[in-house]
Amino acid sequence: MFARRTNWKLDENAYTRALHRLRQSGEPILDLTVSNPTTCGFHYDAEMILESLRDPAALVYSPDPKGLLSAREAVAGYYQDKVPGAHFDPAHLILTTGTSEAYSFLFRLLCEPGDEVVIAHPSYPLFDFLADIQDVQLRPFHLLYDHGWQMDFHALREAISARTRAILLVHPNNPTGHFVKTDEAAQLNDICRERGLALVVDEVFFDYAVPPPAASQMRCGTFASNASALTFVLSGLSKISALPQCKVAWIAAEGPDSLVQDALARLEIIADTFLSLNSPVQRALPTLLGQRASMQAQIRRRIQTNLDYLDTRLAARNCATRLELEGGWYAVLRVPAVESDEALAIRLLEQHLVSVHPGHFYNFPGDGFLVLSLLTPAEVFEEGSRRLLDCLASL
Ligand SMILES: Cc1ncc(COP(=O)(O)O)c(C=O)c1O
Repeated sequence: MFARRTNWKLDENAYTRALHRLRQSGEPILDLTVSNPTTCGFHYDAEMILESLRDPAALVYSPDPKGLLSAREAVAGYYQDKVPGAHFDPAHLILTTGTSEAYSFLFRLLCEPGDEVVIAHPSYPLFDFLADIQDVQLRPFHLLYDHGWQMDFHALREAISARTRAILLVHPNNPTGHFVKTDEAAQLNDICRERGLALVVDEVFFDYAVPPPAASQMRCGTFASNASALTFVLSGLSKISALPQCKVAWIAAEGPDSLVQDALARLEIIADTFLSLNSPVQRALPTLLGQRASMQAQIRRRIQTNLDYLDTRLAARNCATRLELEGGWYAVLRVPAVESDEALAIRLLEQHLVSVHPGHFYNFPGDGFLVLSLLTPAEVFEEGSRRLLDCLASL
C-alpha cells in the first residue's frame, strides 16, 4: 500500500519509551534537551509581534513565488549587516515555510532519485528523513575531534561518488558547534568546482557564536557571499529571532552568475508550485527579524550562564569533559563509555530524573557522548547537570 521510502521504524526507541513511561507516571523530569525557545522563559515583545501580524495589507493576496519583495528586502538587509559593503540582491532569495521545505526544494533541484549528498557527521537527525522523503541518499563523512572539530578532507573526498550532487554543511554545526574555517571553505570551494557539486550550507545557528578563543579568527563568515561555487544558504526565523512557530525560512543563492540565475529560475518554478508562505507572516517579517537583537542577547546570556556553570562543575569533578564549542545551542560531553549512550541516557532518566540526548541520536562515531541543551532555564540546568555529574562520577 505504501511507498518504500516511508518504511521507517515506526516504534519508539527505548529512550523515548522510558521518557513517556516516566512522564505518564507524573515524575518531575529535569529536561536538558529543550530546543523550543518559546517555552524556555525568554521575554518576547508580545505586543509588537502580534501587532505585526495585523497588517491590513495581508488581507490582499498578492502571490510572489519567491516571497514578497518587502519580506526579501528585510532578509537581504540582515545579510547586508553581516558583510558591510556587500550588496545582497533580494532576487537571490526564496522564502520557504521552514528549512525543511527549503531542503526539499534544493534536493528536488539538484538530485535525481538515488543521487547522493555528502554530509558531515555528527549532525542534525532530521536530515535522514528529509533525504528519504526526497529519494536522496546521504553519504556521511565523520568530523574529527582534536582540540576542536575539524573537517577530514580525505574522508570527505572518499564519500564523493559519481552520483554526488552536493555537499551539505551546518555552519555552525548542530550539535558540535563547529564553524567551517576559512581554509576549509577554500578547500570546499575547490572540491565543488572540480567535481561540479553545489554547496548547501545551513546557517540557522550562525548568529550564536560562543565568545571566541584566538583560533576563532579563522571562522568563515556567512556563505551567503560565497561567489566561488554554486552555494545555497539556508536560514530562518526559528533560531535568528527564536520564533519557530512563525515558520519563515529562506534559501539564499550565490556563486557563479550563470549557475545562480539558472538555479533561481528553476527554484522559482518549484516555489510557484507550492506558494506556501502565508501573507500575514511575510508582511510581518521585517518586524519579526527586528526582534533578533533582543532575543539573541537573552539566548547568548543563557548559553554563557549554563556553560560557565557546567565548566565549574566539570573542573571540580573530573568525570567527563566538555568538547570545545564555537557556537550553537548545545554542549557535547565526552563521558566514560562503560555502557551504550542510550543505556546511560535511560539510567539518567530512570534513576536521576534527568533527560539528556545520547550521542547516537546525532550519529556520533561511537558511545561516550551526551548532548545537553544550553537553552535550558538556568535553575533546571544547574540541578540537572549536578545530578548528571554525580551519576557519571559513580560509574
Ligand atoms: C541544523 C538545523 N537546521 C534547521 C533546523 C530547523 O529550522 P526551521 O525550524 O527553520 O525549519 C534545525 C532545528 O533545530 C537545525 O538544528
